[in-house]
Amino acid sequence: MPRIYLSPPDISPHDHASVDAVLTSNWVAPAGPALNLFESAVADHANRQHAVALNSGTAALHLALQILGVGPGDAVICPTLTFAASANPICYLGAEPIFVDSEPRTWNMDPVLLQQALEQGNNIKAVIVVHLYGQCAEMRAILSICEQYNIPVVEDAAEALGANYCGIPAGSMGAYSFFSFNGNKIITTSGGGMLLSNDGEGIEQARYLATQAREAVVHYEHKAVGYNYRMSNLLAGLGNSQLADLQRRIDTRRAHFEAYYDELGSLPGIEFMPVVDPDAANYWLTCLTVDSETSGSSREALIAALEVADIEARPLWKPLHLQPVFKDKICYGGELAAGLFKNGLCLPSGSGMHQSEREAVIKTIKDTLSLGRSQ
Ligand SMILES: Cc1ncc(COP(=O)(O)O)c(C=O)c1O
Repeated sequence: MPRIYLSPPDISPHDHASVDAVLTSNWVAPAGPALNLFESAVADHANRQHAVALNSGTAALHLALQILGVGPGDAVICPTLTFAASANPICYLGAEPIFVDSEPRTWNMDPVLLQQALEQGNNIKAVIVVHLYGQCAEMRAILSICEQYNIPVVEDAAEALGANYCGIPAGSMGAYSFFSFNGNKIITTSGGGMLLSNDGEGIEQARYLATQAREAVVHYEHKAVGYNYRMSNLLAGLGNSQLADLQRRIDTRRAHFEAYYDELGSLPGIEFMPVVDPDAANYWLTCLTVDSETSGSSREALIAALEVADIEARPLWKPLHLQPVFKDKICYGGELAAGLFKNGLCLPSGSGMHQSEREAVIKTIKDTLSLGRSQ
């Protein structure tokens, strides 16, 4: 059996045809009809009026923060349990990240600690909320707290395309939001991202900055420092066919979650990431925690046993307040995220993974745990 990866790209003959059609049209780069179509299709999906397709989710966050006026001397609040890309753009702009721990119910930003951070912090310009592993944060509470302080919210929906919060699409709730189409995401453009908002002027500003801040004249005229952040029309061709297949991808990842849960959920010392509403998550990755005292294995030993079987599994995100690069930054709480990192595990969840491969993952985990318990 070939190696089983955590979340590899899932490419179909429709993707080949879609990319081929773009190549045949010769609208390869930079902009073109496939790119316009991809922007409007994702905007429709996320119930947004405006969108700009970019070469990464990180670029989208960078532009959102810049447009919100974040700069040196400012602070931006961000959850600690997330990928470094949720915080790095704060530093690109010379601002300071302030980290906030997760709540146990969703593993996302704790609204109570967020309120404390807003109460005590100075010069806070924005709050970044992450929908971790495809489940939305507690947005009602978070949006209402941020409204009290008049602080804009940027939704990091990199992992959450297709998820919803009480029926409201992920990526439709903050002042700005973004998705990632990196190779491991639920749909991919190999690398890519999209920034969305209902503020048309903000998105036009992002489009301008992302295109080297080029003025709309015949010669090359620049009044600001810009970036080369646009997605190409060719990659948008891949995005269009991938997006058309989104529901199947969610259903397949959900079936993986349910099978893992049925087979492993009642084993001693194994706890799955709580799913608040089964119809709201996109099930990007199935995540669980392993209690080394009672399960029969440490998380590390389980990863090692899976590796021997040629199966990729990984710890949850290492909290940012524990990362050497951010060790001096303020963090409200942090123990919950630290505990999740210590014991947490992400299982192979790709939408191209076959049932037989999933069964191999389950068998390896069961065998390792039962061997450990019998010793
Ligand atoms: C939570 C989160 N935020 C931001 C990003 C950055 O997206 P990208 O890799 O497209 O820059 C990612 C994924 O890579 C992510 O998982």
